[in-house]
Amino acid sequence: MVDGVYEPLLRICRYINCPEGYLGLVIDDLRQLGVDELISDGGVEFMGVKLLGKGQNSFVFKCRINNEYYACKVRRPDSPRPSLINEGRYLRLANSVGVGPRLIGYMGNAIVMELINGSSLQHYAEHADPNELRGAVRDLLWHCRRLDAIGLAHNELNRPQEHIMISQGRVYIIDFESASMNSRASNVSQLLNALIMSKGSFQGRVRSMLGIHVRPEQIRASIREYKVVRSDDAFLKILELLGLK
Ligand SMILES: Nc1ncnc2c1ncn2[C@@H]1O[C@H](COP(=O)(O)OP(=O)(O)OP(=O)(O)O)[C@@H](O)[C@H]1O
Ligand SMILES: [Mg+2]
Repeated sequence: MVDGVYEPLLRICRYINCPEGYLGLVIDDLRQLGVDELISDGGVEFMGVKLLGKGQNSFVFKCRINNEYYACKVRRPDSPRPSLINEGRYLRLANSVGVGPRLIGYMGNAIVMELINGSSLQHYAEHADPNELRGAVRDLLWHCRRLDAIGLAHNELNRPQEHIMISQGRVYIIDFESASMNSRASNVSQLLNALIMSKGSFQGRVRSMLGIHVRPEQIRASIREYKVVRSDDAFLKILELLGLK
């Protein structure tokens, strides 16, 4: 059987010496998911292969199924996570409330999802005009609100620069690998604390682009209140204070 269609992965494996058995498992999963080809394309270069992205747990390839292109997150051989199954499940749940890249399918070693042709929130915040950024932050907070409403905690929105992508004005929360069901955790609070309330040049930039006029204590109080009652009303109060309603 010729696996040349998965050449970008084979090439990486030749360089990093993947452990025995790894390639076979991943290729089985890619086949089961119907992935016709992994494509060397994207903004990240690794061992001569172009990737959409690379994290501690995965290589994210552009891939093709029939005539459509997708993103294919492949578990790294050195990932501390034994499987991508939980991430696939949580992404499906997030999709049920319109959050995250659209899931196509998942197996233990690979997830196929909508390809986001966009940029990270970090990059976006540097290039967008204030109105665009306000719209994106408003949408993002609504995505967090909808996740809160079903008790799905992303758990990594304390690093929003890495876990939020924007494409054609649409926001995507990505990477549900650390997600959990937790009706007390709040994505809205976690995101606001990281994006607006914390110190840092990125946060300062976001605050000034949003043109927030109220005192930080007021916002903090409204976030605390929201965490207790977790209602749409309390959420709308936050949006109002931020001038995003
Ligand atoms: N659906 C997608 N479309 C386009 N690019 C994507 C998509 N999903 C992920 N990426 C890119 O791949 C990168 C890594 O993805 P992700 O954060 O899910 O991997 P990870 O291995 O869990 O990373 P980390 O170790 O940081 O947790 C992202 O930052 C993004 O640039
Ligand atoms: Mg991750």
